[in-house]
Amino acid sequence: MLTREDNELVTRTGPGTPMGEVLRRYWIPAFLARELPEPDCPPVRVQLLGEKLVGFRDSQGRIGLVDEFCPHRRASLWFGRNEDMGLRCVYHDVEGNCVDQMNEPEQFCHKIHLTAYPTTEMGGVIWAYMGPRERMPAPPAFEWTQVPETHRHCSKVWEECNWLQALEGGIDTSHAPILHRTITPNTSRPGVPVQGPFVRGKAPTLEVDVTDYGYRYVGIRPLDEDKTYVRSYHFVMPFTQIRPQQLGRSMGGGDQTNIAGHIWVPVDDENCMVWNWMYSYGEKGLSDEDRMERGNGNGPDYVEQSGEFRSFRNKRNDWMIDRQVQRHETFTGIDGVNTQDRAVQEGMGPIVDRSMEHLGPADRAIIATRRLLLDAVKTVQAGGSPPGVETSYYSARAIEKIFPRHDTWRQTVLPEMYAEELPVAAK
Ligand SMILES: [Fe+2]
Repeated sequence: MLTREDNELVTRTGPGTPMGEVLRRYWIPAFLARELPEPDCPPVRVQLLGEKLVGFRDSQGRIGLVDEFCPHRRASLWFGRNEDMGLRCVYHDVEGNCVDQMNEPEQFCHKIHLTAYPTTEMGGVIWAYMGPRERMPAPPAFEWTQVPETHRHCSKVWEECNWLQALEGGIDTSHAPILHRTITPNTSRPGVPVQGPFVRGKAPTLEVDVTDYGYRYVGIRPLDEDKTYVRSYHFVMPFTQIRPQQLGRSMGGGDQTNIAGHIWVPVDDENCMVWNWMYSYGEKGLSDEDRMERGNGNGPDYVEQSGEFRSFRNKRNDWMIDRQVQRHETFTGIDGVNTQDRAVQEGMGPIVDRSMEHLGPADRAIIATRRLLLDAVKTVQAGGSPPGVETSYYSARAIEKIFPRHDTWRQTVLPEMYAEELPVAAK
């Protein structure tokens, strides 16, 4: 559990909040690159950490990310005309980079400063940096951002709760074969198959190793008489999960060399944008079917693929829960693995009161996350740099394996949890 005060501290991320200052030390995914497809394309709104912003690509293809509201009289620049190397306000025509004021005979635009954040484009995503310029971290060169486009996929979905309770669901391995399981082999509905190792394995023992980027951890599950099933994860500060997807297609995609993950970005304190990515580090690229994300509930069948990226199944329609399906086919009666996650996390209310919870050993990874975040607040307040702003996470891979009971995960899984050869661009 957390005290009320610490719960406030870790969940509030607006400008000037202690956790907000921590998150502003990292690259934050802001747009799918396809949302800003070409020079002078329509501007797109985005809200990050409580700040309303507008992104655009100027006439030369450079990306601008600025305060949504024109500094003149606060008109939304989303209405703006994207032309002549800037965003021109349609109200009085003060440009985004403020070089022109059509409504003033004597212009004073040189005195006006519009908040603008640096961006970088990597892995089909436009990332923003909202912190102090002199503290800009290494580029977000996760392995998935470095493989060819044929080998990666990224989507996003709006979730109606605080970023941290969504994140805590994502790094909790113990819920996955329970919440997401099917309860009969005779169903075509997505989920963790009842006959597969994830469900057949017993409750996991968690081991967490803190690293200089966050932590890595494993869920160790006894399987059958003489085997062990281990799933390893990474948590990269401040909001990235990397999880394995090599054994079977049950969790949406899955091949011998597939890895997936999420990034949970606060929109404001009661909403977050969940970024979903997967990639293959092997020879074979992803299929069209992989990109549909049918199993996990993030593809076009489940989520609008533009605008606010809202889920069709949401709290206003009780996530379309079907009690007959719950009785006969899946544990929840809700379709889509990540839809099930969103349902449970949104169902807790916008910001869960962690002073009322009762954690156990299966929550070790969640406890480690909170400790890292609270420590990072202290580090940043003391003028230091939080973990995960360097390059040590670039090679991190999440691996799952089934091996004989007498072996250990440190022998069989750990050696593969870091790529030996970094992708070229990440060197
Ligand atoms: Fe889940």
